[in-house]
Amino acid sequence: MPDIKQQISELRASALKELDGLSQAKELEEWRIGYLGKKSRLTELLRSLASLPIEERRELGQASNVLKTELEAVFKNKEHQLRCGELVAAGEMMDVTLPGRPFPAGHLHPVSQVLSEISDIFAGMGFQVVEGPEVEWDSYNFDALNIPPEHPSRDNMATFWLDSPPKEPEGWRMLLRTHTSPMQVRTMEQVAPPVRIVVPGRVFRYEATDATHLAMFTQIEGLAVDRGISMADLKGTLFEFARRFFGADRAVRFRTDFFPFVEPGAEMAIECAVCRGGGCRLCGGSGWIEILGAGMVHPRVLERAGIDSTVYSGFAFGIGIERIPMLHYGIDDIRLFYSGDLRFLKQF
Ligand code: DAH
Repeated sequence: MPDIKQQISELRASALKELDGLSQAKELEEWRIGYLGKKSRLTELLRSLASLPIEERRELGQASNVLKTELEAVFKNKEHQLRCGELVAAGEMMDVTLPGRPFPAGHLHPVSQVLSEISDIFAGMGFQVVEGPEVEWDSYNFDALNIPPEHPSRDNMATFWLDSPPKEPEGWRMLLRTHTSPMQVRTMEQVAPPVRIVVPGRVFRYEATDATHLAMFTQIEGLAVDRGISMADLKGTLFEFARRFFGADRAVRFRTDFFPFVEPGAEMAIECAVCRGGGCRLCGGSGWIEILGAGMVHPRVLERAGIDSTVYSGFAFGIGIERIPMLHYGIDDIRLFYSGDLRFLKQF
């Protein structure tokens, strides 16, 4: 009896092993005849049980039948598998078990990434993120920011004027905003101090395009107005921004500068990442890279927006966005950002 038991388990092992190696329908048929056919070893084995005593016959009979059922099942499976394989190969069936093709997932544009990173830093310092119109009145873009029509700084901001009738009765003319600063005035008109906002957005200048100039680029504006705001708040806030964005190890330089809508005005630069202040091609030999304009909001700007400049004061700043990834990654042509070339965009 142990002999027959052994035979059953050997038979099972060899049947399964052989089946596993089959790849043709013809081989499969041979396997079926060999293991399940009328003259198969299994049939022979079952027949030989007849001569055994009843007890053993029952036990071994059951074991052989279990094996038979199992072999029939694995045969069916294999047959199905081979048949499917043929159909797939012939293009008549799709193999649903294949893993899917990965769907190309996009990501944020590098400029959007920088914008949201900067917005997050200021939001963490209590600034609200707001957006404003890209089509603007000259009144907000210039006049309310203390840039009267004859002011020379209008020349620095070559403007796209819109071909539409002036707003009556004011006579305001429509343009594509040349900076995000008009949102300072729009916000102060709407909300009473304390005001703390950052304004990410696109700006437009009527300029010839080259490696460092675009007719459309991106800025983020900042404004804080409250009682008792001083230059110390301006410096503290912008130094903290630079520390968080560029890292604590980059030195920051602050110098006076002129913008009509601030007094005093300032410019902030950070230590060049490449030469660390020594002077190189990237920073034009100065060791510093200018990243933003800023200043204390001009009293005339506050008054024009309906805020009492004897009670309130504020600071403002404007950051050019494209420059930041350009300097960070050593990108030498600003046009790459808007060329729609995936070879460029996929690197970020
Ligand atoms: N609006 C200026 C520009 O586009 C940048 C700027 C400078 C914004 C100083 C400010 C500021 O808020 O205080 O060149």
